[in-house]
Amino acid sequence: MKKNENSRSSFSGKLGYVLAVAGSAVGLGNIWRFPYLAAKYGGGIFLLTYLILMFTFGYALIVSETALGRMTKRSPVGAFGTFGKSIPFRFGGWINAVIPMLIVPYYSVIGGWVVKYLFEYLRQNTAALAEDNYFGQFIANSADTELWFLLFGFIVTAVLFAGVKQGVERVSKVMMPLLVVLAIFVAVYSMTRPGALSGVAYFLIPNFKNFSWMTVVAAMGQMFYSLSIAMGILYTYGSYIKKDVDIEKSTKQVEIFDTAIAMLAGLMIIPAVFAFSGGDAATLQAGPSLMFITIPKVFASMGFGTGAGILFFLLVLLAALTSAISLAESGVSTFEDQLGWSRVKSTLLMGAIILIFGSACALGFGVLDFVQLLGMSVLDFFDFLTNSLMMPIAALSTCILITRVAGLDQIVREVEQSSDFKRRKMYCFFMKYLAPACIIIILFSSIANVLGWISM
Ligand code: TRP
Repeated sequence: MKKNENSRSSFSGKLGYVLAVAGSAVGLGNIWRFPYLAAKYGGGIFLLTYLILMFTFGYALIVSETALGRMTKRSPVGAFGTFGKSIPFRFGGWINAVIPMLIVPYYSVIGGWVVKYLFEYLRQNTAALAEDNYFGQFIANSADTELWFLLFGFIVTAVLFAGVKQGVERVSKVMMPLLVVLAIFVAVYSMTRPGALSGVAYFLIPNFKNFSWMTVVAAMGQMFYSLSIAMGILYTYGSYIKKDVDIEKSTKQVEIFDTAIAMLAGLMIIPAVFAFSGGDAATLQAGPSLMFITIPKVFASMGFGTGAGILFFLLVLLAALTSAISLAESGVSTFEDQLGWSRVKSTLLMGAIILIFGSACALGFGVLDFVQLLGMSVLDFFDFLTNSLMMPIAALSTCILITRVAGLDQIVREVEQSSDFKRRKMYCFFMKYLAPACIIIILFSSIANVLGWISM
């Protein structure tokens, strides 16, 4: 943390902080990833598991990461480093710092898909996009997917070079309310189609028959992903806030906002599966392609579908860009701070990482489709590696750092500087018992799943 030692900036105020965190939290995770996981892993039971994890475990982790960041005034590598210099501390810091670097490449591939769809709506290809095989043919066409990925990756890298971060924040302030309004509109439209109600029921009503271990694994990975936790981001944000920001309250606000957007996206997409594809099991299992299959069908059935399609994909694109830029920015600042590299060199390295890993993901459905990593396509593999393996390990390192090294008291004192920490007892219980137990169960299930010991 050489650079920031004396010049660490602060957020302008409490609202500025909440908006910044919400801006980084709301992205493809809410709109693209949450609905497909919910469709795939059990509907209502997934939602219930997600909500429980979010308001217990997720809450405790956000508070912890933010408080550690504010206390040490460091990003993850530096924050862990304040407590010790030996290998476990280095490992804890770095695993948090490396995760965003592995997410941006595949995030940019999905971003590329979004740009492609926006482009097609602009060309008024509304009916073609809604055809059954459109998406499959698109991603199998390697030249096409790679091109759109390169475009998205290029924009991200160019913004990092230009360093127009403030502009990005301003964009997201305008975009966020628009996104909410449009999402409500599309969700209502989608829920009122004939046959859509069984989709609403599938998404909202828990059915224990649909429960599997994978429901928990997926819900936990999604919680990390969507809230941008277990990857060092909140350490960095926490390090920018002053002592008067109420950590408890801002955490609650961010969680509620993020979940509301995810649920709206679920209500746009899952009922549409039932209304337009008869709720068939194969579509529910579609995975990463779900949004790209169902949303165009919704728009094609509307009177002014082309306009809605343009607006929708434009807003999703902006949400994806702001998130991708902050993810990549966190990688760049890790290089600058830890390796002492210049901004330009760090940005180039980040760009190269996006290019190499991202291309592998983009081509994984076309020319590279013979490459199966642990039985998954390259993109799914990166998603699994970061969300189901590395993030639990990163979260575990934070728990151990707090309970064994820093001491829960220190965190409690940090939080109490800005509020009376009403949920203190609950927080301590979660950090001591619930979090480690959850994480260990998840890690074992993920590994057992990879090794084929249990099928999930
Ligand atoms: N939470 C973001 C989403 O839902 C993705 C994300 C994960 C992110 N980690 C981040 C965004 C860090 C910005 C910074 O899409």
